[in-house]
Amino acid sequence: MRIGIFPGTFDPVTEGHLDIVARAHKVLDRLVVAVARSYQKDTLFTVEERQDLIRQAVAEKDRSLDVQVVAFDGLLVDLAKEHGASAIVRGMRFVTDFEYEFQLALMNRRLDPELETLFFIPSEKYSYLNSSVIKEVVRLGGDVSQLVPRPALDAMKKKFAL
Ligand code: COA
Repeated sequence: MRIGIFPGTFDPVTEGHLDIVARAHKVLDRLVVAVARSYQKDTLFTVEERQDLIRQAVAEKDRSLDVQVVAFDGLLVDLAKEHGASAIVRGMRFVTDFEYEFQLALMNRRLDPELETLFFIPSEKYSYLNSSVIKEVVRLGGDVSQLVPRPALDAMKKKFAL
């Protein structure tokens, strides 16, 4: 069984992330979505909320996908080993993502030479997305209903008391 691990902060999950989940699932049998508790970013949602929003979004998209959602705060390579993953899944949106992703991939390879990093290119309609931009537009009353799953949109509106 080919298992991949897809790490990120997911604050919150967007259609861009779900696009990567669907693409990765074409070549992997199971995907473990690893939600970083995040010590580097101040998150709008707790790690439990972020996991829950991913679970709801995946269930709404395609219940047949073998997707497991977990929280983590240690090294990604250790979590990958724990779950029997042979690959890290990351999205590559623009050329500007490359430098950071290159650094992460090489460091992860140094920590575990057996673990490969697979990059997927999201659909161009999601290539400009990130969670911060989505949160800002929602907070200011803009329409992002095509860009985030419904549960995430509702949860953001609730947080911003809209
Ligand atoms: N669609 C939409 N948005 C996307 C996206 C996609 N396909 N891919 C990334 N993004 C966005 C994210 O929403 C996020 O937006 P934000 O900055 O506004 O919150 C941004 O791009 C990048 O975030 P993400 O891909 O989630 O990475 P991250 O920097 O938040 O997380 C970890 C990095 C958690 C994967 C990394 O730090 C890690 O592995 N940490 C564990 C500790 C460890 O092992 N360290 C050593 C590794 S070298």
